[in-house]
Amino acid sequence: MGKITRLPSDLANQIAAGEVVERPASVVKELIENALDAGATRIAVTVELGGKKLMRVEDNGEGMPPEDARLALERHATSKIRRADDLAAIATLGFRGEALPSIASVSHLVLRTRARGATSGTEIKVNGGVIASEVETGMAEGTVIEVADLFYNLPARRKFLKSDGAESAQISRLVTQMALAYPEVGFTLTSSGRRVLACPPVTGFRDRLYQIYGDRPDLVEVRRDGGGLAISGFVAALAEQGPVRGPQNVFVNRRIVKDRTIAHAIIDAYSSASIKERSPEVHLFIDMPLDRVDVNVHPTKAEVRFREQSLVHEVVRRAVGDAIGSGPAPELTLQAPQASPAGPVAVPIPDLNLGGAYQSRWAPATAAFARRPEAVPAGPPLAAPVSSGAAPTAAGPPAAAATEGSGDSAVRRMVPLGQFRDTFIIAVDEEGVAIVDQHVAHERILFERFMERLTAGTAESQRLLEPIVLDLPAGGREALLANTEALHRFGFDVEDFGGASLRVTAVPAALGGGDAVEAVRVLAQDLEGLDRGSRVEEALRRIAATMACHAAVKANDPLTYEKMTHLLDELRRTAYSTVCPHGRPVMLRLTRREIERNFQRI
Ligand SMILES: Nc1ncnc2c1ncn2[C@@H]1O[C@H](COP(=O)(O)OP(=O)(O)OP(=O)(O)O)[C@@H](O)[C@H]1O
Ligand SMILES: [Mg+2]
Repeated sequence: MGKITRLPSDLANQIAAGEVVERPASVVKELIENALDAGATRIAVTVELGGKKLMRVEDNGEGMPPEDARLALERHATSKIRRADDLAAIATLGFRGEALPSIASVSHLVLRTRARGATSGTEIKVNGGVIASEVETGMAEGTVIEVADLFYNLPARRKFLKSDGAESAQISRLVTQMALAYPEVGFTLTSSGRRVLACPPVTGFRDRLYQIYGDRPDLVEVRRDGGGLAISGFVAALAEQGPVRGPQNVFVNRRIVKDRTIAHAIIDAYSSASIKERSPEVHLFIDMPLDRVDVNVHPTKAEVRFREQSLVHEVVRRAVGDAIGSGPAPELTLQAPQASPAGPVAVPIPDLNLGGAYQSRWAPATAAFARRPEAVPAGPPLAAPVSSGAAPTAAGPPAAAATEGSGDSAVRRMVPLGQFRDTFIIAVDEEGVAIVDQHVAHERILFERFMERLTAGTAESQRLLEPIVLDLPAGGREALLANTEALHRFGFDVEDFGGASLRVTAVPAALGGGDAVEAVRVLAQDLEGLDRGSRVEEALRRIAATMACHAAVKANDPLTYEKMTHLLDELRRTAYSTVCPHGRPVMLRLTRREIERNFQRI
């Protein structure tokens, strides 16, 4: 007798619901996305008690005929994709065919819908995933979905919901984000009888921003195209007291996403303007061809994967940097007077349309550019081998090809010629000229060193003669205290000191005393941001990345010749010498061929 049984479909749906429906705001998100996919121009959202009692989303979209209305409630039933190929370029917000059945399985759901041109509508009631009734009904064209008593049949889940106020706040944040992304659609949100948001349709984002936030002289406009990406939006302007803090709304092809690469690029742009600001307000739209971003990587589609992660980082960093006036990394232009009618050839960011051609241009020498997304890790595996020129194999890092290999992007023994703006090392080898971002390169080196020590045992720790006592916000404090073990392995000894205080008695030897306080603060923020229950390796990796970033030489730091040589040598020895822990390129290269061609020597 075997022991495996097939789960009944309502139980399977409840399990699936666990992924899609985390809280009321996730239900509202799915319903609004469906309304947008149905071409609605007006969407009205009503919630009671933070959505726990009731959520209703009403739209004037295309509606559904009765047979579709029934199918819509079944799992894996969708009108949005038909075949596997469709997954490569998804143009709708939904595509999994899971949202409605998932929501229906953990609530009392009523679906009312009337297809455009139909004379009447259909009303279907579902209780805990089981259809209770279906009747014909009179209604306006469009769809109304009501979800009552979320998680009534999953008490454990219901217990995890926050207060009504907190859940309402999440819902209004979500509706605000959707409204920002779709200015041509009218949105209203009514929460427990109170009109929280009312945005009639407008022609553009600027007007929508005004509807929601009023006049905002403290924001500056972002507008930049590059590498096949179009970046637009508004971000916090630099100000004496620092840019305003606020929501960080990032949209990729109008889909709200959380993305570390982009978050890092934003922080990078601000920090290169020497502003210590970790949460400037941004409303940023990144538009790119559908096939350059995979949206099928996360159950609620909150995360996406870019085919060219470093490119996205670079374009966003420049776009934001330009907008706030900090100036992007210097653009390097190679004059080639008679080379082409188009004028200067050099573009620091490869245009995706150029295909292979960008290899020979000023392209960031990162193998990540040329590779498929799965080959671009957020960082090396924990046990990243650190060897000399020989390419690491088992881990299969993206640099493998670059270090060994074929050519342009290899990190060979390079001779430094000097610094540019005290920020970039200009170096040469037999095969070309390289411009190395000294901070990013050093960050990469230190990161690997920290990770190596971690896997080997304990990082060198330095006991402080006078322990540091510092006050931290509760979330950060908790996050640190929950990770004392991991922190200890890195050389930090942190303990509770009562109240809001923490005491730090030891720090990694690699950190100077001055940096330690800042590093602990940053760590607290980073760890707090990590999802609970995420792997401890991830926390460690973050710690290593943060420490590396803090201990690395900075931009605008004059370096001696010896230091430059040392840095370049160390760089050659790292396993992933071409990308920083956050995926930024370490260097730009101009190949010998390119130089010769431009001087018409070949
Ligand atoms: N408001 C609506 N107006 C018209 N049709 C809708 C509406 N909501 C859902 N549908 C139809 O029901 C189908 C199922 O919706 P559901 O949200 O479950 O899946 P999906 O949107 O296709 O994919 P995902 O699970 O990724 O959201 C949709 O494909 C669509 O055809
Ligand atoms: Mg959907």
